[in-house]
Amino acid sequence: MTMRGAGARSATCEAAPNIALVKYWGMRDPSLGLPFNSSLSLTLDRLRTRTVVAFRDGPGPDTFRLNGAPVEGPRREAVTRFLDRVRALARTTAGADVDSRNNFPTASGLASSASGFAALAGAATAAAGLALSPRALTQLARLGSGSASRSVLGGFVEWRAGSARDGHDCYATELHPPGFWPELKDVVALIADAPEKAVRSADAMQRSVATAPGYRARVDAVSGRLGRLRRAVAERRAPTVFRLVMEECDEFRSVCETTRPRLDYLTPSSRAVLDAVRSLNADAGETIAGYTHDAGAHVHVFTLARDAGRLRRRLADVPGIARLLTLGAGPGLTVLARPGTD
Ligand code: PMV
Repeated sequence: MTMRGAGARSATCEAAPNIALVKYWGMRDPSLGLPFNSSLSLTLDRLRTRTVVAFRDGPGPDTFRLNGAPVEGPRREAVTRFLDRVRALARTTAGADVDSRNNFPTASGLASSASGFAALAGAATAAAGLALSPRALTQLARLGSGSASRSVLGGFVEWRAGSARDGHDCYATELHPPGFWPELKDVVALIADAPEKAVRSADAMQRSVATAPGYRARVDAVSGRLGRLRRAVAERRAPTVFRLVMEECDEFRSVCETTRPRLDYLTPSSRAVLDAVRSLNADAGETIAGYTHDAGAHVHVFTLARDAGRLRRRLADVPGIARLLTLGAGPGLTVLARPGTD
């Protein structure tokens, strides 16, 4: 499709971060962003990235502003590489101005790349006059960041790894809409001294593929776990969901810690949160909470609304937590303003 009209075309989209219950960690084809294993996530509410993309009349360097400040270097280049894909689809060479704002701290490790590239995929394609299906948008978004594929959709989302070399069977799909399980909460422990990411996830995971002794065994084990988790979520069996989520998280962490050089994402405070959840479950005599974390220090703890107060009180004793957020399931990519000319 070609762009028509002389004026700049702009569009605005919003998307939210997601937290993976089954992790994506490793690509079978990095150039196409094809993962080794399927993953399953919950798109979160309250946290949003809002992105405006405006294509100019002619070619020229793209600009990227994040939370009002101009961004240069690798992060701006990643945006340009992503826009190049959109320009190729739209058969245009126009430069673009991208303005992106998070309503949460960008460096907090709350998966701003997932919400960021999902919102960028939506806004850039709409601004370029392309009408992509939700499935095609999930396929485009993963080229910015794999987990962005899942943030295109709301509620419980499965990103299917597929097996085709060209990636046509690799896409994300909604398992359950945001309102499916309102009692389920994600209590996020934001760790005060969380370090900035030293290695990009996309590079770190390929290091695990190459060096972690348990990597192949994990890929083999993950599909069984994902199937069990999919069923437990569908039947809203909370203790099973929490147990499987922790099992998955422990395996992910062990792959990271046996990667050479070692990948260590947790701080002593993050580890204290994991211990607090274990002791809460032991005291309750049943699994009333389940922890997980991504490639960062913050810890997400799933629990039911009725146990959220008890969990929060237990976590209040853990030193080094800056804030506790209680989140639920949220919607996927939302178009706020369609193309218009300035
Ligand atoms: O999407 P990326 O490249 O930021 O990698 C995400 C990796 C994890 O967050 C650790 C797991 C996941 O599935 O979200």
